[in-house]
Amino acid sequence: MFYGAGMSQILPHARIEPVNDTSIALAGDMLRHGQLVAFPTETVYGLGADATDDRAVAAIYAAKGRPSFNPLIVHVADPDDCAALVRVDDRARLVMARFWPGPLTLVLPRAAGSPVSLLASAGLDTIAIRMPGHDVARAVIRAAGRPIAAPSANRSGAVSPTRAEHVAESLGGRVALIVDGGACRVGVESTVLDLSTERPTLLRPGGVTAEQLEAVLGQPLACPHQDPEAPKSPGMLASHYAPGLPVRLDATHAAADEALLGFGAMDCTLNLSPSGDLEEAAANLFAFLRRLDERDYRGIAVAPIPETGLGVAINDRLRRAAAPRS
Ligand code: TXA
Ligand code: MG
Repeated sequence: MFYGAGMSQILPHARIEPVNDTSIALAGDMLRHGQLVAFPTETVYGLGADATDDRAVAAIYAAKGRPSFNPLIVHVADPDDCAALVRVDDRARLVMARFWPGPLTLVLPRAAGSPVSLLASAGLDTIAIRMPGHDVARAVIRAAGRPIAAPSANRSGAVSPTRAEHVAESLGGRVALIVDGGACRVGVESTVLDLSTERPTLLRPGGVTAEQLEAVLGQPLACPHQDPEAPKSPGMLASHYAPGLPVRLDATHAAADEALLGFGAMDCTLNLSPSGDLEEAAANLFAFLRRLDERDYRGIAVAPIPETGLGVAINDRLRRAAAPRS
């Protein structure tokens, strides 16, 4: 039984299949059903999920065991597939034409009506997107018929996997299927270039170098990680989503004009998960914060969330949202 089996179910061993038409079709089917599939890219193995499915994306964070929600890269099989997801300007078209398919990720503004899960972009108005330079990766994405969110296919804190066995050792049965395409060619993650800002900004160095990008763009890149004046923590490079309204944590009731974001059985404005399911709560978190933020409230009160499993990442983001603004 593959379909319908909840991702909270931990199986002892990963299923590994060699690359052929059957395994590619199976991978596509599983991804369309919200399951996690690991596949090779030219850089490292990715842990893929349907990028338009909040629950599937929540399952990625649960499988990785990360204590926070970092925005994920959305993978496409063709540059034309970007238009519905992100706003592609002339600069983006230039570097795509030169470096795609390949180890270059572009951060671009979210398109109006973009179907990409807000959890995939950790609530941000931008989306990181790339077209991998590996036939198997593109075949899996095409078989799924969806954009695929995929971080490196390892547990949080472990080294990035460049072989199917590494994925199996790190994730075991947390992934429904591993498509074994042998060793990855590049071995380090893609370059991340932010084109959502006026000045193109190198967020993560990788296989495509700053010099190559500067030659094509005809202007120098901002490189925050090399600038001694820039914030030291890499976590500060990607700005975090925070609602415009003040956020109050561990609330059991809403004050006058406050919205109450609930968890578990309770009366509230919106409920992250009436049944108290942390994966459902993670899937709803950013979308619900935005919905409340758009309404006429004075603040957002949030019910207590247990500090276990995905609750750790949910609470991390809620504490950031509630922290005093500078
Ligand atoms: O080579 C790769 O890029 C691999 C393969 C699987 O494609 N993927 C990968 O994903 O390395 P991950 O999740 O480990 O790294 C994603 C990087 C992080 O540094 C994250 O902060 C950044 O991309 N990122 C994603 N979305 C972003 C956004 N909207 N704004 C800024 N940075 C973003
Ligand atoms: Mg990684």
